Amino acid sequence: MSIRTVITGTGHYLPPDVVTNDALAAIMDTSDEWIRQRSGIVTRHHAAAGVGSSDLGAEAARRAIADAGIQPSEVDFIVAATISPDYYFPGIGVMIQAELGLEGIGALDVRTQCTGFLYALSVADQYIRTRTFRKILVVAAEVQSHNLDYSNDGRDMAVLFGDGAGAVILEPAEASNGRGVLSTHLFADGRRVTDLWMRRPSSKDKPTFPPALDASDGFYPRMDGKNVFKNAVEKMPEAVRAGLRHNGLTIEQVDHLIPHQANDRISLMVAHQLKIPVEKVIRNIDRLGNTTAASIPIALDEAVKSGRIKSGDLVVLTAFGSGFTWGSAVIRW
Ligand code: UT7
Repeated sequence: MSIRTVITGTGHYLPPDVVTNDALAAIMDTSDEWIRQRSGIVTRHHAAAGVGSSDLGAEAARRAIADAGIQPSEVDFIVAATISPDYYFPGIGVMIQAELGLEGIGALDVRTQCTGFLYALSVADQYIRTRTFRKILVVAAEVQSHNLDYSNDGRDMAVLFGDGAGAVILEPAEASNGRGVLSTHLFADGRRVTDLWMRRPSSKDKPTFPPALDASDGFYPRMDGKNVFKNAVEKMPEAVRAGLRHNGLTIEQVDHLIPHQANDRISLMVAHQLKIPVEKVIRNIDRLGNTTAASIPIALDEAVKSGRIKSGDLVVLTAFGSGFTWGSAVIRW
């Protein structure tokens, strides 16, 4: 029997604090108008001090597990994606594992930034199809708001990012029923590391953490926004086309496109490039900002729970981010 991976449960969790554009304009030189026009963002969620990405991830995971109708103890592997781990090491996979009471099972952290969920999904898909594991938790979680530069130097990024977590449960199913993950395509270009990065802490520095830590000296994320934008609108359509071509599908057959929510202008330009009607593009960045690795599983869960994505629909996911990394996944829901 040929096996395919199906998503049997989805969940997400957002920290309760909602931050408006006006609240950001009160602490730096920006405006509601600029943020809406340049990014489409109206609000985002910020986690409270003391809350880390593993906390958000564990809650999203609990919701996905409940949605799948399984017991936490049935999960036999975890793949976690984040760029904002609670600690420099270890990653959040083991922390979520312990939080769920799943001591003993393997927990892998993926570090591919905004494309993290797609890489995590792809890894987990291989394990399911090779019958290595039967119930995998893929979870992506971010707390970006605790380390953004809220001075004018960092306002381009500080207004974009939000906190949140999304999770899915993957299980095997007989391929003949047509449902499941049809393909994943992953790409990267490591020559562009410095276009979107956080330079420090760095193992190149000795000591890695300077005794007198000046946060502005490399400890905030920085990006070349224009170059990231330009590459995002080029690479996401390429990745989507690669996925569709692989499956002998056309853009007309796609029911829902879920692009990583980086900037609403990017999502709209990706739709335009692909000639897919904007009604088929799932967009929630207005409410949530850019939640990096978590944006796709959050959008997926919202779309499934609201009934927008229905059984049998063709769903295409695509992401682009730091690295650069990018990719796509084609899923028959
Ligand atoms: O998840 C993947 C990672 N991130 C992305 O994909 C983001 C990609 N990039 C972008 O979304 C856009 O480049 C931004 C939203 C960051 C910026 O939009 P833009 O249209 O490319 O603006 P810009 O960089 O050309 O900046 C225009 C002006 C600049 O001022 P000057 O030099 O023209 O005087 C910036 O200093 O806007 C200024 N600016 C701001 N003004 C008010 C930058 N950030 C802000 C801000 N509020 N928050």
